[in-house]
Amino acid sequence: MSGRGRQDGGSGRDDAEELRAAVNPDSAVLPHREVSRTEIYYFSGTGNSLAVARDLAGRLGARLIPLASVAEQESIDPAADAVGLVFPLYDFRPPSMVERFIRRLGNVGGRYVFAVCTYGIAPSRSLHRLDRALRACGGHLAAGFAVAMPHSGIGGQALSSTEREKLLANWPRRIDGICGCISARTEARIESGFPLRALVRPALVKMLPYLLRYVKQVARKGVQSLAMTAGRDCDGCRVCARICPVGNIDIVAGRPLWQDHCAGCFACLHWCPKKAISLGGLDMGIQACHHPDVGLTDMIRR
Ligand SMILES: Cc1cc2nc3c(=O)[nH]c(=O)nc-3n(C[C@H](O)[C@H](O)[C@H](O)COP(=O)(O)O)c2cc1C
Ligand code: SF4
Ligand code: SF4
Repeated sequence: MSGRGRQDGGSGRDDAEELRAAVNPDSAVLPHREVSRTEIYYFSGTGNSLAVARDLAGRLGARLIPLASVAEQESIDPAADAVGLVFPLYDFRPPSMVERFIRRLGNVGGRYVFAVCTYGIAPSRSLHRLDRALRACGGHLAAGFAVAMPHSGIGGQALSSTEREKLLANWPRRIDGICGCISARTEARIESGFPLRALVRPALVKMLPYLLRYVKQVARKGVQSLAMTAGRDCDGCRVCARICPVGNIDIVAGRPLWQDHCAGCFACLHWCPKKAISLGGLDMGIQACHHPDVGLTDMIRR
């Protein structure tokens, strides 16, 4: 891990350089192709899960693969005996792409399957949910780890920089134990934690007004009133379209146009260089931010 620090929109790299590299497809480095004993599939919006997946892959000598890159494959049959899934929680569950992946994974019962979820509020029983999905396909979750990270969703703006730093420090504290467990192919406890307990944490209490604002808006005007939109600062740079892991954004007449298959990761909003994107033009307390060890190029290479 390097450059640990802020989650405030800066990547610790030169932004202009990052952008130039991001729009040059020739600069992309594909994940390495040798057969590895472990493959790690990841999904990430602000880079929290990517940072975790990348560190794990480095330590375990695993191949690192974006989940989005296999989204169109009918079946997935890695040569590796161990398969890891690293992802954020959205609405207290794994992104739908994760459960779709499990349904297409070959020889589920014959593999060591592990997962790490990153979360901003509470892991809830999302890893148990994943275990159930694996069991329905003849396998099970051998180990499920939950790692607290800065909240990338509604109300995340309420976290101070000190609180963000503290949250970012969780992962370096846990990596040795998690890698040891995976290397030994240990059957470990599936971690969980409950939202109501989390909500007594002072940092999370500060998010509540935003969460209530969101609920009120949906109740009064419907969820459509919170559709992604670009404001006047948008200069048509296309970063949002390039970063979207599911190709949900077209640029039409120099402006982003969101389609109907959004995965809800907020990557477009967080990575827009002009901070021009919002939910329906309303302030929902979402601070444009990303993991300090992850840059735009890392995200666009997916
Ligand atoms: C749309 C959205 C919904 C979220 N919902 C939850 C949630 O229900 N529970 C939770 O603990 N964190 C939630 N989060 C926070 C993320 O899970 C957390 O910040 C995660 O580390 C983001 O990882 P990423 O940068 O890899 O996407 C949500 C974030 C977003 C953008
Ligand atoms: S919304 Fe942001 S990222 Fe998308 S084109 Fe406009 S300025 Fe670029
Ligand atoms: S449109 Fe934005 S929020 Fe939806 S999947 Fe694409 S990047 Fe994520």
